[in-house]
Amino acid sequence: MKKLLALLMILVMAMSVFAGCSNNNEESSGSNSGTVDIGIVLPTKEEPRWVQDETRFKDALKDTDYNVEILFSQGDSAREKQNVETLIAKGIKVLIITPHDGAAAAAAVEAAKEEGITVISYDRLVTNTDAVDYYVTFNSVSVGEAQAQYLVDQLGSGSGEKLYLYAGAATDNNAFLFFEGAWNVLQPKIADGSFVVQNSTKAVEYKDKAVLTRTEMGEIIEQITTDWKPEVAKSKAESHITAAPPAGKTFILAPNDGTARSIYDQFAKEAGLEIFVTGQDAEIPSIQYVIDGKQSMTVLKDVRDLVKGAIATAVDVLEGKAVETNGSYDNGAVEVKAKDIKVITVTQDNVKEKIIDSGYYEAGDFTGL
Ligand code: BGC
Repeated sequence: MKKLLALLMILVMAMSVFAGCSNNNEESSGSNSGTVDIGIVLPTKEEPRWVQDETRFKDALKDTDYNVEILFSQGDSAREKQNVETLIAKGIKVLIITPHDGAAAAAAVEAAKEEGITVISYDRLVTNTDAVDYYVTFNSVSVGEAQAQYLVDQLGSGSGEKLYLYAGAATDNNAFLFFEGAWNVLQPKIADGSFVVQNSTKAVEYKDKAVLTRTEMGEIIEQITTDWKPEVAKSKAESHITAAPPAGKTFILAPNDGTARSIYDQFAKEAGLEIFVTGQDAEIPSIQYVIDGKQSMTVLKDVRDLVKGAIATAVDVLEGKAVETNGSYDNGAVEVKAKDIKVITVTQDNVKEKIIDSGYYEAGDFTGL
């Protein structure tokens, strides 16, 4: 009987451990003191970009004395709020959050703030609330500028060249920053007729405006948004190809790698095109596309630096030290102090140096290097 009882207890214990692990969106690291010090909420596991952030966080946190837990919101603001509440209940003192939807996340960070938790916006800004303490980010305007500069560099002395524009999700403040940067560089070349925008009547309407208001940008983004979803990018590209067929040199501003691959695959079905398509994130499949001469460029946002910046900020807060910042961003309610991190353009010419030799990925992840 005693043996049976002991067995039963082991079974119950094993089941509860298993239940604790069964949520595959949950990852912990650090010491095992019971409470969590730093809570991290990432937007989705569906995109390699954010899985990369999770991996880089885990690598960086291996030897930390702090308890850290990472939760994913799977593109759902309600789940994101729940994640934040779960972490609040576990006693976090610092919240690092990449919102799925910048404005919708305000309620979640306000709930954290009420508990005296320091809130760090990570890569994407939570908007229209004063409950954000710090913003650790890549310089997103410079990402858009790097993408557009690549296209302009390929243009040479061409004129009347076909340009297709795509953007991120309008719920993501970064989509505006990327577009703003791209517009800074592309607009003079659209205004002088070097590029002719094929798929946005609003971009054509505003072609002589060097600086767009947020509302004007919003109007263009609404026409060309991919919602950050490869399948949306695919169907938009399909209808643009039908409505305004590409020919010869074809220039495409794609906002990130996931959408770039998807848009490239559609355009590549057309015969006789020379395609120039941008991206960002240096996702492994896109690095392969760059090596293969399919995607023309990506912007390397070294997630190791972003993670380092976020952890340093969190640790400074936990240890009561002053946080170093080098910029600020208006989130619609307050100027949020920011750590702004530089980005690097990657093309077939420098992919080996920037991606492999730098130790970002291993050569074995790719073929044809
Ligand atoms: C990030 C990009 C990412 C995109 C889609 C943006 O906020 O800055 O790196 O590709 O979201 O997830």
